[in-house]
Amino acid sequence: MEFTAKFANPQKQRTSCLVITQSEAKKLSTTAETIDKASNGYLSKLMRSGDLTGRAGQTLLLQKIDGVEADRILLVGCGKDKDMNELVFNKVVNSMISALGESGAKDALVCLADIAIKDRDLNWNLRQAVILINSSQYCFDQMKSKKNAKKIKLQKITLQVLSKAGLKKADTAIQQGDAIGSGMDQARDLGNMPANICTPAYIAKQAALMAKGEKKLKVSVLEEADMRKLKMGSLLSVSAGSRQPAKLITLEYKGAGAKDKPVVLVGKGVTFDTGGISLKPGAAMDEMKFDMCGAASVVGTLKAVTALNLPINVVGIIPATENMPDGLATKPGDVVTSMSGQTIEILNTDAEGRLILCDALTYAEKFKPRCVIDIATLTGACIVALGKIPSAVLGNNEALIKDLIDSGQQIEDKVWELPLWEEYQEQLDSNFADMANIGGRDAGTITAACFLSRFTNDYHWAHLDIAGTAWKSGEQKGATGRPVPLLTQFILNQL
Ligand code: BES
Ligand code: MN
Ligand code: ZN
Repeated sequence: MEFTAKFANPQKQRTSCLVITQSEAKKLSTTAETIDKASNGYLSKLMRSGDLTGRAGQTLLLQKIDGVEADRILLVGCGKDKDMNELVFNKVVNSMISALGESGAKDALVCLADIAIKDRDLNWNLRQAVILINSSQYCFDQMKSKKNAKKIKLQKITLQVLSKAGLKKADTAIQQGDAIGSGMDQARDLGNMPANICTPAYIAKQAALMAKGEKKLKVSVLEEADMRKLKMGSLLSVSAGSRQPAKLITLEYKGAGAKDKPVVLVGKGVTFDTGGISLKPGAAMDEMKFDMCGAASVVGTLKAVTALNLPINVVGIIPATENMPDGLATKPGDVVTSMSGQTIEILNTDAEGRLILCDALTYAEKFKPRCVIDIATLTGACIVALGKIPSAVLGNNEALIKDLIDSGQQIEDKVWELPLWEEYQEQLDSNFADMANIGGRDAGTITAACFLSRFTNDYHWAHLDIAGTAWKSGEQKGATGRPVPLLTQFILNQL
């Protein structure tokens, strides 16, 4: 879909479809009022007759009416003014796009200025609409022999801006929405790709393809032999049982000078998590192909940052491996030495995410980061604690955590903090090594973060557990592209 901003008078605009919104208020919205005047009271007549109620999500498609240039008008209901919020906006945009998709319109002029959400402005409406519309059109059909049957005619959406002066900011908002949308699509594609194709080598290749022709983006890959030289014994203990060689992928985006300390993103890239020797039960195990969604969000965020040509340095680090049972696989009770020198007793091979992340987090030190954020589908406990609405955030720096919470709030990709208190650390005590890789039944998300915290003493660090937010199960099974919006917003806020 192509999006542009335009300072336009709705009634005089040539378009296949003019989209205007109407709440349940007794009087017409500002735009509806203009159209009403131009059409000799056509809309107020509809209101009186009860056909135009303004109920949230209601759509009413009108064919050409006198006095208005557009071929069609689509009226979209927004509900009660006092109930308007981000969720209702979501519903309104989705109803609009499905009605437009079912119409014959090739293009549309969309007026979103009549929607007022507390603490949000028109540019927020525009950016969010671009993201939502992009998501509504996403379809993973690369593995189907018959491609996307639901392709719609609509190709171009023009978003109305209220003044010439407002155009520049609206353009930026739309560009951001576009870039975030394509970053999310990239993340979704990687996540949805089955694990027999999406191997560590595949992620490395896709990252390299993305960097091709991009002067500011460089991708490099460490092989297992390199990891051995770096003494990444923890990461290698996870790949030991896999026939697919592990890769440590680094994406470096240089948008600023060498003095600009990079934001470092570390993404868990377990391309399939069987649990290893601590084998998982069979039910829904297919969903463990999504265990690389942290990695996918790193690739997607770098895609968005590159598209926006942001003046900042960002590094993405992806430890990628499978977690498989095998004759050479790590066994419960095995003790390994991490790159940091700390030893780990692996009491459960299914707690593998932290084992690959800890070495990647030590490796991150060499980039002299301004901050490090790791993103991981780390614990089922996170879904028990918070459900599938927010991602969990924990870390060693209050300001960084607050910035992430604020960023999530700004772009509707929410995170919620869990406490990383010292009292939890003792759950990781081991009789045989510096620490165990599991902390027992209680507070699984927190003890996983406690484990990571032992490798992040040299910089400001936050951990995002995206176990509940990276993909959906059930009928709508598929990767969500989260938290690409959050991470991109966080980086934008650094500028
Ligand atoms: N990838 C899983 C976490 C997960 C499970 C995310 C289900 C989403 C849905 C992770 O590697 C894992 O297996 N974690 C274990 C940790 C436990 C052994 C301490 C878990 O959550 O059960
Ligand atoms: Mn696991
Ligand atoms: Zn896992």
